[in-house]
Amino acid sequence: MKTIIEPFRIKAVEPITLTTEEDRRGFLKKAHHNLFLLPSSQVLIDLLTDSGTGAMSSAQWAAIMTGDESYAGSPSFYRFEAAVKNLMPFKHVLPTHQGRAAEAMLMALYGGEGKMVPNNTHFDTTRANVEASGAIAQDFVIAAGLDPANEHPFKGNMDIDALKTFMAANHERVPLVMLTITNNAGGGQPVSLENIRAVAAVARAYAKPFYIDGCRFAENAWFIKLREPGQADRSIPDIVRDCFAETDGMTMSAKKDGLGNIGGWLALNDDAKAEQARAHLIRTEGFPTYGGLAGRDLDALAVGLEEVVDENYLAYRVRSNAYIVERLDALGVPVVKPAGGHAVFVDARAWLNHIDPMHYPGQALAVALYEAGGIRSCEIGTVMFGRQKDGTEQRAPMDLVRLAMPRRTYTQSHADYIVEVFEEITRRKASLKGLRIRKEPAMLRHFTCEFEPMTA
Ligand code: F0G
Repeated sequence: MKTIIEPFRIKAVEPITLTTEEDRRGFLKKAHHNLFLLPSSQVLIDLLTDSGTGAMSSAQWAAIMTGDESYAGSPSFYRFEAAVKNLMPFKHVLPTHQGRAAEAMLMALYGGEGKMVPNNTHFDTTRANVEASGAIAQDFVIAAGLDPANEHPFKGNMDIDALKTFMAANHERVPLVMLTITNNAGGGQPVSLENIRAVAAVARAYAKPFYIDGCRFAENAWFIKLREPGQADRSIPDIVRDCFAETDGMTMSAKKDGLGNIGGWLALNDDAKAEQARAHLIRTEGFPTYGGLAGRDLDALAVGLEEVVDENYLAYRVRSNAYIVERLDALGVPVVKPAGGHAVFVDARAWLNHIDPMHYPGQALAVALYEAGGIRSCEIGTVMFGRQKDGTEQRAPMDLVRLAMPRRTYTQSHADYIVEVFEEITRRKASLKGLRIRKEPAMLRHFTCEFEPMTA
């Protein structure tokens, strides 16, 4: 059969409040045209993030009831640890309440003033943690990864030549090498096994530890199986194990491919660093057998890690994004291609080319998607990156809108609805106007700034 169905049926439902376009115009005004300021009850389809917003399975909810809340030595931790080590056989696994806590811990181990950390692309919290330690975060994704229309199969790959040149010049300042799979900031694009091994070889040549940010490791492994020569007949757990085999550790947000609503971890092999990390964990998150989590959360993750490597799940997961990308492409909407693992990225600057980048075409599109269809997406462009450290404002390299797909949460009819909302916007596109920022905080302005739509 050519239809890839959702490989589950629905046992519990969460009603969506239906609203009219007129309602939403009022809600937008109250939220100052910033979608982060909307109560989620006013959103029909929430594509703000795929992080922690997925649906847990009946087996995960059942595991919640087996959670043991002992402060030390909870069996929930041992089940969680075994599930992580089954896929990523690191010696030490330290749970955290989410990914950024693992990143903060990693930087407490390796960061510091004057150091430099290379990555394909640092996710924003990773970059913030590197920079907060005093180090410099450097991105070396391949050129194809910055070109929305380029159909390279592994657009998340590290540029190995650039990494080598960088290491030759700066290795004394580099405490570790990092790689993010999939590359979220570049559109959820995968990294090939060959590239992971090539990065590992460069790190090894300079005797530097190599860490993967593995948030979407299962989606990345699925792309390797589909696209990398020689990988088609291999199981997902085997591919995952290969991805981590040549690394020294990983950070993880289990709110993504842990299929949990909360959670994360830092895993590593180095005994001395692990001891240091445990001391940090006790000070910041909790005792090392629960990290910042309840025992029940650890149990839900133990089950989630088994479910996420299921091929039927991954086929459905990646296909639902690809379906939307194909339909939008056919409508003439410029989308990042090929489809990424967890999100659809629209090139708003190219599509709404009558709006000056300094008037935020990405935000204009995000607002239009909400107004026309109640869809909440996220601008990744000049609103997010435009304010410079010296206080001036510059256009970002791209003005994208991300529609991130929560896991196992929406169905085919929701996907068709999303496409229909884009059809409607295609009709009204010429009348869409840019925005002005009326009020903004000193940092991370996209979360709380207030906009005013332009009238001309
Ligand atoms: N690394 C990557 C690649 C991520 O995508 C995220 C989170 C993190 C680290 C941090 O994890 O949220 O558990 O602290 N990404 C979310 C998103 C927030 O919407 O893309 P966290």
